[in-house]
Amino acid sequence: MPLFSSLPYRILSKMAQNEQYELVETIEPVVARLTKEHLERRTHWYFHDIVPWERGESFRDKPWDVSQATISEDARTSLVLNLLTEDNLPYYHLLIEKYMPRTSAFTAWNHLWTAEEGQHAIAIRSYLLTSRNCDPDELEDDRMATVIRGYEPTYDDPTEIFAYTSLQELATRVSHRNAGKITDDPAAFELMKNIAADENHHFIFYKGVMAAMLAENPSAVLSGIYRMLTKFQMPGVAVPGFMRRSISVAKAGVYNLRIHHDRVVMPLLRDWQIADLTGLTNRAAELQDKIMSIPADIMEKAERFEKRVGLAPA
Ligand SMILES: [Fe+2]
Ligand SMILES: [Fe+2]
Repeated sequence: MPLFSSLPYRILSKMAQNEQYELVETIEPVVARLTKEHLERRTHWYFHDIVPWERGESFRDKPWDVSQATISEDARTSLVLNLLTEDNLPYYHLLIEKYMPRTSAFTAWNHLWTAEEGQHAIAIRSYLLTSRNCDPDELEDDRMATVIRGYEPTYDDPTEIFAYTSLQELATRVSHRNAGKITDDPAAFELMKNIAADENHHFIFYKGVMAAMLAENPSAVLSGIYRMLTKFQMPGVAVPGFMRRSISVAKAGVYNLRIHHDRVVMPLLRDWQIADLTGLTNRAAELQDKIMSIPADIMEKAERFEKRVGLAPA
């Protein structure tokens, strides 16, 4: 399938005719129910109520200089990386559109999700510019470079995108929350707390979709979960200097492999009760074992990284 993955869902599903496509199509009522629950649970918030506009000054009259920054370099790096990641929303929308059925429940969710996500970049950018905690020219140049580069990973089947979005929403929830915490600025803290709460609501939706598919046909879903866990990358890989920035963010304790293990991978495996799944095909049982050995591999890498950068384990 990866060969054809540039094709839209309706063509992919016709070509594939496999159980993963059938499974995703059967859970449409669950998607409708989870969307309804999401709407009942989430209260909309307004970024303009939180951004400290009173601190804003004209960049024409007073050009930016690093001495004007009020939060630490680590906090600025984390907020900028998280912002640039959010800036690539058009591509995330496109991925969901491409890999999820174009039926009313999936489309309604994608539109709602896109609208909510849209506020995140607007909010972080407004804060950073108003509080002068970023170089405005550099930020705009980086946004251009990020979006021009784009983000178009390929998935083997539509169950994989739900595994990815579950992981990714939980990872961004943790990373936004931690980024807000290290700013020592009540406005940034409040803003990132609200964004993290949104990511949490999205996470609840996606993990619920996965749970429904696992209940229906666990053997069909495990390959997607395995692939996602082994090749997981934050969507910010398109950001210029991603490696350098993510090392700073890792060292600052905003997001790193240990956090990925403790706060993202382990809770998800527990939540989906992967270790306890029964009645699997032979191939799926093999995947179950492989999935359960992933956390140990991540921890090994985490320890190697901590040693290399001289970081004391949390
Ligand atoms: Fe977001
Ligand atoms: Fe989200």
